[in-house]
Amino acid sequence: MHAIHQYQEFFITYLESQTINKEPKNLYAPIDYILSLGGKRIRPVLTLLSAEVFEAEYTKALPAAMAVEVFHNFSLVHDDIMDDAPLRRGQQTVHEKWNINTGILSGDAMLILAYQYFEQYEPIVFRDLAKLFSKTAIEVCEGQQWDVDFETRTDVTIPEYLKMIEYKTAVLVAAAMKMGAIIANTSSENANLIYDFGLHLGLAFQLQDDYLDAFGDPETFGKQVGGDIIENKKTYLYLKALEFSSKEKATQLQTLFTTQLDNNDDKIETAKVIFNESGASKATQQAIEEYTFKAFETLEKMTISEEKKNILKTFGENLMGRTV
Ligand code: IPE
Ligand code: IPE
Ligand code: MG
Ligand code: MG
Ligand code: MG
Repeated sequence: MHAIHQYQEFFITYLESQTINKEPKNLYAPIDYILSLGGKRIRPVLTLLSAEVFEAEYTKALPAAMAVEVFHNFSLVHDDIMDDAPLRRGQQTVHEKWNINTGILSGDAMLILAYQYFEQYEPIVFRDLAKLFSKTAIEVCEGQQWDVDFETRTDVTIPEYLKMIEYKTAVLVAAAMKMGAIIANTSSENANLIYDFGLHLGLAFQLQDDYLDAFGDPETFGKQVGGDIIENKKTYLYLKALEFSSKEKATQLQTLFTTQLDNNDDKIETAKVIFNESGASKATQQAIEEYTFKAFETLEKMTISEEKKNILKTFGENLMGRTV
């Protein structure tokens, strides 16, 4: 086993060894741009980590880790178009730097590119990876559609929200880990347990993403703070605020999230005050912890050494403490 920062370095070295910037330039330059912008590299690190948890060399998992990260970046390029987001990782989003058509086609190419990385595996492993990947990718699309549908709905429930974030975010974290298990050819029990671990970690991760979208530090967050509020996203913060508020406050919040304002600063400020005063912020923090601990419970069912469990736990704890 290696330390988390080492897996990150292994992955970045591999990424940098790949030739991405080809002709036509307007197709590949945006791909190179988004992949080079960095990011936390959580999903590929989890693929490498999971492979080693189940006794395979991380090197074997590098192409799958790359597939996962390329897919993730594809989803971000299209997500930023859908969310009308100006900033990603502290820089202009692809559709802002180029244009929407470029974002669409470069994104499409990234999805195909991601699949191609599985071709490096022998037939049985290829089949299992591709099957998991296809299932996951279609679920991400479903989650993204719900997310957009919810923007204009006023009756979204917490279970609906949880399903939406499971699909748009958690399944990819889960699949990233299961891919490591597939490559290591471990038991299906282990593969399913690590999927479950990733799923709960992924739910906590998206809850925190929602929290940071409102309360992150604009200096370091790398995305437009308040973007979810501007877009009327039905986040956990919003739904809990509705649940906890007086009828009057709840109506104020609902109205705020159905009208388009000229001054988004006021909208963001008002929403954040309601999120805090209603107790929704605290409830979100609690839910983040709850899902992280649920992930840790899954770990206890696994037949791996304490040392390995501790590495996975530390990873989860570090995610909870993140600010970007
Ligand atoms: C952002 O993912 C999209 C979500 C699913 C919340 P990350 O927060 O992992 O983005 P990067 O790759 O580190 O920039
Ligand atoms: C993104 O959710 C999920 C996917 C990209 C599939 P968000 O829209 O919350 O992600 P950010 O906040 O833009 O990174
Ligand atoms: Mg977004
Ligand atoms: Mg989105
Ligand atoms: Mg977000």
